[in-house]
Amino acid sequence: MIFKYLLLMLVSSVAYCRDVDESDSCAFGTYDYIVVGSGSAGSVVVNRLTSDENITVLLLEAGGYPTFHSEIPFLAAAQHLTEQNWGYHMERQPNFALGLNNELMPWPRGKVLGGSSVINSMLYVRGNKEDYDRWAAGGNPGWSYDEVLPYFKKSEYASLKRMDSEYHGIHGLLNVQDVPYRTKSAKLIVNGFQDMGYRYVDYNGKDQMGVSYVQATQRDGRRCSAEKAFIRPAEFRPNLKICLHRRVSKVLLNENKEAYGVQYIDSNNTEHKVYATREVILSAGTFHSPQILMLSGIGPKDHLSDLNIPLVQNLPVGEKLFDHLAFIGLVFTVEKPIIIDFSQSMAPTSLFNFLVNGRGVLTLPLGVEAFAYYKTSAANYSENYPDIEFMFTSGSLHTDHNLFFKNTFGVTATVYEALWKDLESKYAWSISPILFHPKSHGSVKLRSKDPLDPPLLYGNYLSDPENYDLRALIDAIREVQRVTKGSRFEKLGTEQVRTPVPGCEQIPYDSDPYWECAIRHIPSTMNHQTSTCKMGPKSDTEAVVDHKLRVHGVKNLRVIDTSIIPVTLSGHTNAVAFMIGEKSADLILDDYYISRQ
Ligand SMILES: Cc1cc2nc3c(=O)[nH]c(=O)nc-3n(C[C@H](O)[C@H](O)[C@H](O)COP(=O)(O)OP(=O)(O)OC[C@H]3O[C@@H](n4cnc5c(N)ncnc54)[C@H](O)[C@@H]3O)c2cc1C
Ligand SMILES: *[C@@H]1O[C@H](CO)[C@@H](O)[C@H](O)[C@H]1NC(C)=O
Ligand SMILES: *[C@@H]1O[C@H](CO)[C@@H](O)[C@H](O)[C@H]1NC(C)=O
Ligand SMILES: *[C@@H]1O[C@H](CO)[C@@H](O)[C@H](O)[C@H]1NC(C)=O
Repeated sequence: MIFKYLLLMLVSSVAYCRDVDESDSCAFGTYDYIVVGSGSAGSVVVNRLTSDENITVLLLEAGGYPTFHSEIPFLAAAQHLTEQNWGYHMERQPNFALGLNNELMPWPRGKVLGGSSVINSMLYVRGNKEDYDRWAAGGNPGWSYDEVLPYFKKSEYASLKRMDSEYHGIHGLLNVQDVPYRTKSAKLIVNGFQDMGYRYVDYNGKDQMGVSYVQATQRDGRRCSAEKAFIRPAEFRPNLKICLHRRVSKVLLNENKEAYGVQYIDSNNTEHKVYATREVILSAGTFHSPQILMLSGIGPKDHLSDLNIPLVQNLPVGEKLFDHLAFIGLVFTVEKPIIIDFSQSMAPTSLFNFLVNGRGVLTLPLGVEAFAYYKTSAANYSENYPDIEFMFTSGSLHTDHNLFFKNTFGVTATVYEALWKDLESKYAWSISPILFHPKSHGSVKLRSKDPLDPPLLYGNYLSDPENYDLRALIDAIREVQRVTKGSRFEKLGTEQVRTPVPGCEQIPYDSDPYWECAIRHIPSTMNHQTSTCKMGPKSDTEAVVDHKLRVHGVKNLRVIDTSIIPVTLSGHTNAVAFMIGEKSADLILDDYYISRQ
């Protein structure tokens, strides 16, 4: 109880005392560039553009400064429950998320300086070489793996024990590290997968297929967000103006379809206009960049006319949304205390060790310690192209004794009691299979013309007619069962938790239909929503921006964030967002210098 109290105190402390500019001075003046949103991609753009003293930039961000406790990796799940999260849910989908509160899956997003990188899990996974070669093959020159690798490296300041050096940068602003703390169970998993045929790899290096400890965006054991890496070094440049708590509602466009500024709403609910002489850059993320475009009349003709929004440019904004679905119900018990010790993590000495040394159990990002990559038989991808990631957590939903995790994932009390409650007094860890290349996809639409209304978010998971998505996930569950039968696991008395998911008791346990039922009850998003403003050539009927991220048919307007990712990805999205920021900053600067010649 005392620990719970200590933790809550810590969580409620808002120890960041930087000045928040609430004054109205942002409403005046004209800038070369206006950047909307300071997330993983937008922060990089802001930093790189203002490194030229002659370029003026206004950054408008809907959120405020990050809280102090967002620095603590182990408390990543707690960040969702703060004002730093937009707090959205996906719209209800029939026969899906049945074990979650109101059958609604939380879809968190960062609403804070630094965006989602302030509330995310810090897992740094770039994806597969083939992913980017697919971007280029889709008519996007400049985005092949060989061409984007330099931008991954440019950002990165890697300090990793085992890495393929030629694939990593060591002079960048973004720290990528081994997590300083490792449980014994992490070693078990990495060795256990190796016993069963997986090679140890640097999954961000030469070859992704294998098993590995995680690489995390951390600096000295603390979170390294976009705010820390890219905004802080630029914050006081005289050519950069940062305005927080400003929500952009519209891009201002003239009759030639040229963007010349934006309209925003301040914390007093007053509307203002600001002007850009060169470009407006939307980096509001995969939910809000499409929202702002549609509010500005750029989007699907029929949808906009339904809402009485005058059409400026007919484009398939928001029509496709990819995400990575995970199953959180594969849990195993062991006989020995080799997992995260929750009471230890809550002990004052842990906090001390973290604050003073940047070490200890609090540096564990949500408890995730290792990854393995796997190709199912559900699809015929090439040998080195995984369609599944196994995410190993040295614990599971029970780890924090119902403090945050249950609410973060939105699991109902009934399901928690049935599946996880008992585990609080045992040693249990989990492996979540994550589906990289779903054949089904969701979408984003406007709920109304009101810019303050949350957008409508549709996941539409597991809905492909061939049922590939489900078959792949079940294949992945079988693979985890195979690997965990290895002798190393047996020696530790490893056993899969066989409590049936409430609602699936009628189906024979461990049959394929049982796992389908379980997945439909307790799925989780990995928060990797992408592709709502897809990059592609004009000839691509799904494309919203071109290969320089300029909105098709409109001038002086770019979208620079994860919404432009054109295809499904074999990685997580934060690393990619930083890369997109780096590459597009160069594209913008090229245009800038050419125009001045
Ligand atoms: C809970 C969670 C966990 C995750 N874990 C991982 C992980 O471990 N590894 C990983 O690689 N990825 C992870 N991700 C995904 C990754 O963090 C995101 O894909 C990435 O940060 C997105 O970057 P972005 O630049 O596209 O947008 P964001 O970082 O979301 O930034 C958008 C910014 O725009 C602002 N904004 C939005 N609308 C407006 C408006 N109208 N006016 C002004 N400002 C606005 C927002 O407040 C926000 O700051 C996670 C995401 C979440 C939410
Ligand atoms: C909001 O209104 C109050 C009172 O009129 C004013 O003092 C404050 O500066 C305003 N804030 C903004 C952001 O305009
Ligand atoms: C900025 O402009 C000044 C005056 O035109 C020029 O001397 C200087 O070199 C410019 N700086 C950069 C970084 O281009
Ligand atoms: C397998 O590959 C062929 C040819 O590349 C393709 O047409 C087919 O759709 C693929 N099958 C699956 C299940 O992906």
